[in-house]
This record gives sequence, C-alpha cells and structure tokens, in this order.
Amino acid sequence: MCGIIGVTGTGPAVPRLIDSLKRLEYRGYDSAGVAALVEGRIERRRAKGKIRELETVLAADPLESTIGIGHTRWATHGAPTTENAHPHKAGRVTLVHNGIIENFAELKGELAAEGRVFESQTDTEVVAHLLDRALNGGNDPVAAFKTVLDRLTGAYALAVLVEGEDGLIMGARRGSPLVVGWGEGEMYLGSDALAVGPFTQKISYLEEGDYVAVDRSGARMFDASGEAVDRPIVQVSASSALVEKGEYRHFMEKEIHEQPDSVQHTLSHYLDFVNGRVKPGEIDFAAVDRIQIVACGTAFYAGQIGRYAFERLAGLPCDVEIASEFRYRNPAVAPGTLAVAVSQSGETADTLASLSWCKANGLKTAALVNVHSSSMAREALVVWPTHAGPEIGVASTKAFTAQVAALLALAVTAGVQRGRIDPLIEGELVKALFEAPRLIAEAVQMDGALRGVAHELSKATDVLFLGRGAMFPLAMEGALKLKEISYIHAEGYAAGELKHGPIALVDELTPIVALAPLDEVFEKTASNLQEVAARGGPVIMIAPKAAPDPHGAGISRIDAPDCHPLIAPLVYAIPVQLLAYYTAVEKGTDVDQPRNLAKSVTVE
Ligand code: F6R
Repeated sequence: MCGIIGVTGTGPAVPRLIDSLKRLEYRGYDSAGVAALVEGRIERRRAKGKIRELETVLAADPLESTIGIGHTRWATHGAPTTENAHPHKAGRVTLVHNGIIENFAELKGELAAEGRVFESQTDTEVVAHLLDRALNGGNDPVAAFKTVLDRLTGAYALAVLVEGEDGLIMGARRGSPLVVGWGEGEMYLGSDALAVGPFTQKISYLEEGDYVAVDRSGARMFDASGEAVDRPIVQVSASSALVEKGEYRHFMEKEIHEQPDSVQHTLSHYLDFVNGRVKPGEIDFAAVDRIQIVACGTAFYAGQIGRYAFERLAGLPCDVEIASEFRYRNPAVAPGTLAVAVSQSGETADTLASLSWCKANGLKTAALVNVHSSSMAREALVVWPTHAGPEIGVASTKAFTAQVAALLALAVTAGVQRGRIDPLIEGELVKALFEAPRLIAEAVQMDGALRGVAHELSKATDVLFLGRGAMFPLAMEGALKLKEISYIHAEGYAAGELKHGPIALVDELTPIVALAPLDEVFEKTASNLQEVAARGGPVIMIAPKAAPDPHGAGISRIDAPDCHPLIAPLVYAIPVQLLAYYTAVEKGTDVDQPRNLAKSVTVE
C-alpha cells in the first residue's frame, strides 16, 4: 500500500526522507510527497508519479529542515493527482497516512458543516482537519491526537507534524504497520524496517492501536487505551535494511536469481539434510484433522500447491481459499482445523483478518510469512518462516518459491507424523527437496530458450497457461505474473478443463504455455496439448528432455531440468517467472513497479 516515513534529528531531513521513500516505493508509486518544518512553518513538496518526479520538484524548490515526513502513495480514495498526494494539510497540521479511513464521508460532512474547506478527494484529509480542530481547543498535541484517533474507523498508519511543535512527530497504527527507529540524536517513524534501514537497525514495532510521540531524544508510546507503554527495541539484520539491485537490471531479475539460496535457506529451517529427516516443529500434525489455508494472489497459488502435497503425502484434508472471500462468508470450519495464513508481507489486510477470525473462532493458527515480525506473525500461535529475504519487485518470485518450499517440507513432516511416510520414503523425499536449489539454479540457466518464446509472447494479446496437478496452480501463477508485469491478458487452466469451454479461445494467435513435468499425468497433459494444437494454437511445452514428444504439429518444446515430481512446482516456477520477466522487458514495461499495483496490500 502506501509507504510512510518521518525523521526528526539535527541533520538535513529531506535527503533522508527521499532515500527512505525510494526503499518504500514498492508499496505504491502513484504520487509522492514530503513536508518539513521550516522556520516554524510547515512546507510541502508533492508530485504525481514516482519519487524521481518529487526529486525534480525538490531540485527546483528545495526544502531544508531537520524534521520532516514523507509518503509514497498507492491511490485508494481520489485519483493519483498532485492535489491528492500526501502530505495533507489543515491549519497547523500536516500528515501522511497509509490505510483507509472508512468513516471519512461522515467526518467530512461534519467538518464541512463547520465551514472547513477540503482541497483533496482523499479520506486522509479529514484526519488533518480533525486534529487541527482539536488543537484549536488549546489541547496538548498528544492528547488532541488521541481524541482524533478515537473518532476514526478503518485502518491507518499515520505520521503527523504540527506547526509550533518543533522536533515532534506523532504516529499511530491500527491495521497498517508502523515502526519506531532509534538513532543517535535522531528518531524515525516508518512503514517497516526497510524504510529506516539506512539510518538505524534498532526498531520498536508498534502494536495494534498504539500511538507515539517521537522527538530527537526518544519516543513516548501509548496503547489504544492511552496508557503509557514500552515496546521493546529489537535489532533487525542489516540485510533486511539494505537492499540493492547490484549487477541486475531489475529487482525482479535479481530475485529470480536468488531462488536457489532462498529455497535452500527456507528448506533448512524445516528439514535436517544431514540425517535426511524432517524437523519436528511446534505443530503435531497427527493431532490436526484438517488444514484451512487463507491467502491472496500469488500466496494463494502457493497455498494451492501446498494442498496437493498435504492431501497426497499426509492424507490431511486441506482447503485453500482467497482471504477476501473467506473472511466475509461466515465459513463453517470444524474444530481440529489448523488455519494457515500464507503471506510474504504478513500484513495483507484480508489475510490478516481471516487469520484473526480463525483465532477468534478457537482454531489453532499458523502464519507462513516472510516478514517474521509482521502482524500475522504476531497474531498466529505458530510462525512458519520463509527465508526469502526482502522482496522488492512488486511481482512476487522468490517469496512464492519459498512459500512452496516450506509447504512441501511441512507436508512431508505431516506425512511422517501421521504415519503415512515411513523412514525410507522420508529420506527419499527429503533428498528430493534438497535437490531443489541445484535444479532451480539449472532452471535459471534456461534463459536463452525462454527469451525467444518471450519475444513471441510479447506480440500476443492473450496467452493461456496449462497444467495438471500442482502444475495447475502454477499455471495460474504464470498467468498472473505475465498479466502483472507485461499487461498481456493471460489465464491459467487445468489442462483437462480446457475442452469444457476455454478451448473456444484457441486460435493461431493465442500462445499456450504448457507445464508438463514427467509425472503420472504427463500422458494426459500431452493429449490435451494435441487437442489445442489440432485447433491451430501454438503450443510451447515446458518439459524435461526425457519426456516423449506429443507428436502434434505446432508444439514446440523447451527443455526443463528433470526432477522429482514433488519439487516440480519449484523448478517449473523459474521458467514461468522468466517468461513473464523477458516478455515485460521486451515490451518495455516497468518491471519492478507495474502500473496500478503495490507490494503490500493493507486495505481490503
Ligand atoms: C503477485 C503478488 C500478489 C501478492 C498478494 C499477497 O505477484 O505479489 O498477488 O502475492 O498481494 O501478498 P502477501 O503475500 O504479502 O500477503
């Protein structure tokens, strides 16, 4: 969603705000802005578009100050214009916001009736007016802030400057993350550890409903009831603080190449490679009757791949549902169900709400998250970490394979604990999983062949992805990746389902990418490919060399590494990601920051 940052210290604040906003740009890039206190007055600079547009504005009209706030926006209420760009200002108050104020229309009506004039269409501006009004009553800023927070419904992370309060930044969080960064004579507020990473690795994570007042010397924190609280200061790793593109052209390319390491690192958490055994974790799967996975987008597809493994290897019934549906349909979940939220960020609003719902309804909960200090990690009974490291490309790649790797390892663990997998098979499956990093590294080398296919795909307006078994959710993930970054319409189908309708779409202009590892359903997939090839559809079959030819005219092949069927979703994820990446590069789109998207979706 949006990214926010605040800096109060003794050195120049604006270059720091810009540095931080660049790290936060993955959260949204519809507009950007900063505000700073200059000689007792708050001044703003804002621009539509990316941070570089804001830099141009600042170059022409600089701001010098030791205290300021900044924002990069993913638009929810109000078009992505300069007027709607944060910071928003009303009287003495200027603030930035991430989230949605759900009762803003009612509040706006109330404020307008008092003669207050609004300059934007955002939900955020009402908060600035409310606080300005509260300050006019002569209140202490922190006390006034609390009265305003009590009027808001919805989600927010806020950072606020008040004219006449030199050195003070107030912040609050409910439903959207906010951290306090501790520097030497300098303090920070930011959306995440990455935002304050260049300045400090000492972080306090605010809890739900907390608000805070920071100045150069420290922070005063309060919980939702107004009680003073201390949130612990934790040291985050420098690697999560500093992320650079290095030799790569895009973060997405870098993150695709990092997957041998991120998968290896993740698997090592769950498996004992030396002894060929699973590591028993905090969940005893023998005592679990059913698994309910909730997730959004790419994480949802990872969950679906997990379902195939849990049911096949552990005989454990597993449902997977899109979190935005799950949370509103009053699902009937049986006691004995383990609820699992799968999420890179650990902050996605719908997934978090679904997790909380499951917890409130008495289920055991686990959060499979890449950000280990995230809201979901704190909400769930058990944290299942992925070790993908910070993912900056908006289109998820290494976080996805890390989720899949963890789910496959956990499914083997479940199979062992439920007596479905004997020690011999356990050893075989653990070995297969530990071969994944090497085979992923091989798959990353497939780039030559894939560039040619990407050239063809870049000319298409529609592309179909096909797969069976765990390759079906991967086909959907492939279609999502292509849509997201190349803007080409794509759909993923179960290969056997095509003839029930979608085959009508097939013509010589619609490329079909088939994911066909040599598994027990290979022959079935090959027959489906003949069906589409017979109708003129150009088929690109990604399959191992050893796979027999489906003998259809118009079926071209790309050789994938030969692998154990268990790890096929990990290995085949690579060509799928590379195809989307090269197609987007061919089309010249903004690969790391595709239009209309944001990395962490903390609104419903
Ligand atoms: C697609 C993508 C999104 C996310 C989804 C959930 O490339 O990244 O579909 O997977 O927004 O995000 P997390 O995993 O942070 O909950």
